[in-house]
Amino acid sequence: MNYEELLECAEKASQNAYVPYSKFSVGACVLCESGKTYTGCNFENASYGLTICAERNAVGTAIANGERKIKAVAIFSPNMQNCTPCGACRQVLSEFKSDSGLDVITKCADGIRVHSIDELLPETFVL
Ligand code: THU
Repeated sequence: MNYEELLECAEKASQNAYVPYSKFSVGACVLCESGKTYTGCNFENASYGLTICAERNAVGTAIANGERKIKAVAIFSPNMQNCTPCGACRQVLSEFKSDSGLDVITKCADGIRVHSIDELLPETFVL
C-alpha cells in the first residue's frame, strides 16, 4: 500500500473518532512489515486524561494481531490542522519501528509531509 492509500485509510478511520470534548477527530493507519495495515481513531472520556490517541489505538490493534514491526504510520485530522503525533505516541511508535525505520506521514492544510520517527523523537528512551 502506498502512502496516499495509507492516508485514505487514516481519513476513513478519523470518521469513527469519539471526540465529544475536544471535537478534534484524528485517524491513523499503520503499515506493518507483514504488509498488513491497521487503523485507529482517538476516543475520549469524561475523565479527560483517559483519552486514547488515534496512533496508539492503531498500534495497539497491530500488536493485538501479532505484529511487532511497523514501517509507517499515516495520520489524518479532518480540520487539517497540524496533526503530528504527541510525545507519548512518538515514544510508543518508536518501540515498534522496523529495522529500516518508521515513516510518519501527515496530511495537513499545508500538504502532505513525511518525517522519520527518529527525526520526531531523537534519543528515544530504550531499556
Ligand atoms: N490526539 C490524537 O489522537 N493524536 C495525537 O497525537 C495528538 C492528540 C487526540 C487526543 C484528543 O482526543 C484530541 O486529539 C485533542 O487533543
